[in-house]
Amino acid sequence: MSVTPPSTRIWWNEPVHKVELIWIVVAFLWGLTMFFTMIWWHAVGKQNLSNEAYRVQPAQYAANVDKMVAAHTVRQEGAFPVVHPPPGSDVYLMGRVYMWWPMLELEMGQSYRLHLSSIDLQHGFSLQPLNINIQVHPGYEMVVNVTPTTSGTFGIVCNEYCGFGHHTMTGRIYVTDTT
Ligand code: CUA
Repeated sequence: MSVTPPSTRIWWNEPVHKVELIWIVVAFLWGLTMFFTMIWWHAVGKQNLSNEAYRVQPAQYAANVDKMVAAHTVRQEGAFPVVHPPPGSDVYLMGRVYMWWPMLELEMGQSYRLHLSSIDLQHGFSLQPLNINIQVHPGYEMVVNVTPTTSGTFGIVCNEYCGFGHHTMTGRIYVTDTT
């Protein structure tokens, strides 16, 4: 049962309850806060990544990955080669159903140009526990300048749904302390 019959009700003429009005104002102000925080954080946040992106053919990208793997693999972990590229070099990581390929071993305090791309579907690169996230698309290559500041083992998970094996799509980056 409505306060006024639906045929004669004009919704914008209905009285707004005070509680409803308060919530509308709260939600609006919160929306504004989040919006401006986004802009502010882009300027001051420390985890903003470079915006370098290039077009690349998936086959060409896979060839670049293979070249690095062939040149700098230091050991094998199950099906995965562990690659220790020279400091300062271009390092390639490839997303594909359902793995991040290969495993990387980087040196603490050294800089690398980390290339990220996919050769099949859209994947999400999520570096744990640092929680750095990058969308990874086939046909595009993201390049991020990285300098690991802590040693240890870092996990990579996929955070864009990419199929039935999405939850098994993981990878690993080792950072060694050579000082
Ligand atoms: Cu790859 Cu989800």
